[in-house]
Amino acid sequence: MRPPSTTILILLITTTIISPLPTHQQQSDLDSDCTNRWIHIRHLPPQFNHHILTNCSTTHHPFSDDLCPFTTNHGLGPKTHNQSHSWFRTDTHLLEHFFHRRMLEYPCLTSDPTAADAIYLPYYTALDSLHYLYGSDYNSSSQHGLHLFKYLQQNDPLIWNNHHGHDHFLVLAGSAWDYNQPLGDDNDPRLWGTSFLELPEFFNVTTLTLESRAYPWQEQSIPYLTSFHPPNLALFDSWVKRVRMSKRSTLMLFAGGGGISSSPNVRRSIRLECDNSSESGSVNYSKLCEFVDCSNGVCEHDPIQIMKPMLHSSFCLQPPGDTPTRRSTFDSILAGCIPVFFEELSAKKQYGWHLPEDRYDEFSVMIPKEDVVFRGVSVMEVLKGFSRSEVRRMREKVIEMIPRIVYRKHGSSLGLRTKKDAFDIAIEGTLQRIKTRLESVGDQ
Ligand SMILES: *[C@@H]1O[C@H](CO)[C@@H](O)[C@H](O)[C@H]1NC(C)=O
Ligand SMILES: *[C@@H]1O[C@H](CO)[C@@H](O)[C@H](O)[C@H]1NC(C)=O
Ligand SMILES: *[C@@H]1O[C@H](CO)[C@@H](O)[C@H](O)[C@H]1NC(C)=O
Ligand SMILES: *[C@@H]1O[C@H](CO)[C@@H](O)[C@H](O)[C@H]1NC(C)=O
Ligand SMILES: *[C@@H]1O[C@H](CO)[C@@H](O)[C@H](O)[C@H]1NC(C)=O
Ligand SMILES: *[C@@H]1O[C@H](CO)[C@@H](O)[C@H](O)[C@H]1NC(C)=O
Repeated sequence: MRPPSTTILILLITTTIISPLPTHQQQSDLDSDCTNRWIHIRHLPPQFNHHILTNCSTTHHPFSDDLCPFTTNHGLGPKTHNQSHSWFRTDTHLLEHFFHRRMLEYPCLTSDPTAADAIYLPYYTALDSLHYLYGSDYNSSSQHGLHLFKYLQQNDPLIWNNHHGHDHFLVLAGSAWDYNQPLGDDNDPRLWGTSFLELPEFFNVTTLTLESRAYPWQEQSIPYLTSFHPPNLALFDSWVKRVRMSKRSTLMLFAGGGGISSSPNVRRSIRLECDNSSESGSVNYSKLCEFVDCSNGVCEHDPIQIMKPMLHSSFCLQPPGDTPTRRSTFDSILAGCIPVFFEELSAKKQYGWHLPEDRYDEFSVMIPKEDVVFRGVSVMEVLKGFSRSEVRRMREKVIEMIPRIVYRKHGSSLGLRTKKDAFDIAIEGTLQRIKTRLESVGDQ
């Protein structure tokens, strides 16, 4: 494993550029039309959010990571280094905390729940699951969320009853697979996970997850947090410019762990193919395949480890891991590296709000994993088959997606707020989904 290189440190530093002062015109454009967009933030006692953050340390959850260092900057984590304005050591599990902060600056908030089109529950759902997953409540993980429901029933029950929860939404910064353990007996041995998504109490609540089930019910996937959270338009634009100019000397990159088991699976096939590739087998690329070993989470809080190789690769492989999706899909889009998927559940069937389903052919490559594992299809040969101009065209489409998957920093400049980011698109999708639900239950 290489130590973090200093060249990339310098590469990632961008000078602060003061964005122009907003004009009144911009201001009023932003705030003007709140019709059908009003959101009420439900008041919850701090044990449902901020107090959970105080239990972030491993002393409470001996088998999970210590999340405490990553709770700074409202969940974006510490900056990668002191002079950085846009790059953070972000832990994707803290999306609930960051989302809450961003909600506070949403322009169409109302204190009147009856005037709202949607009700946000600032509950840190996945963070609160840690004491069920790893702690003393391991054997009662089917209870996860019931204390919240009890609170909603006992305090101002009219807010819930107004639409039976159909207008409520919350964030669950995890994979739905970890939260759909069957209810009923607390099975022995315990299955991994909690039953939050199986509780009928929350069936009506729109739940924003990082990964949804194959047949989602109340959940909708939204992008993982990357490490890039620019505070203004100039910093955003300068990154995109760097991505566009970056020389792509590697054909394909795989950043991840695993692939070492001997049973057939796509990560193993990729690893074998990569290990076997010659260092310089092509006039167009100095390297055909690069493997960045991210075993044991070594890349997770260190964007430098993966952003640099991604900036220099044309294609970034996204094989399914323990679950179908991976954060690296969003890192690769951020780096302008064309994602290569091996199954539709990895993204196409997940992030419909952010990455339109009908555009995957333009910005990504699909190679069915069965073809690779069982039919001897070579990923490298498929990717070598794209001409230089095809690759350039696809990369342009990837770059077009960048604003949609970035979570800009809280308190960003108004100039940057004119671009819809991952948060804005999530809110738009949520409002539309809730509207449709209310209409379908005849509960307008
Ligand atoms: C924090 O952890 C302590 C000890 O496990 C527990 O008693 C307390 O309820 C937890 N607080 C929250 C808000 O989860
Ligand atoms: C960053 O700044 C803080 C406070 O100014 C200082 O304590 C720390 O050593 C600096 N870290 C680096 C890596 O320069
Ligand atoms: C959960 O139950 C099992 C057996 O039913 C027991 O061995 C274990 O100690 C319990 N775990 C906790 C955290 O109470
Ligand atoms: C969910 O909505 C249905 C009607 O659409 C309602 O009958 C049910 O009681 C609601 N669930 C809860 C927990 O409010
Ligand atoms: C590795 O390369 C050798 C020699 O070219 C070849 O025979 C073998 O099939 C390759 N293995 C894989 C997994 O591609
Ligand atoms: C290099 O790119 C050119 C132009 O796209 C293509 O015709 C050629 O086949 C490529 N060569 C190799 C070895 O991949």
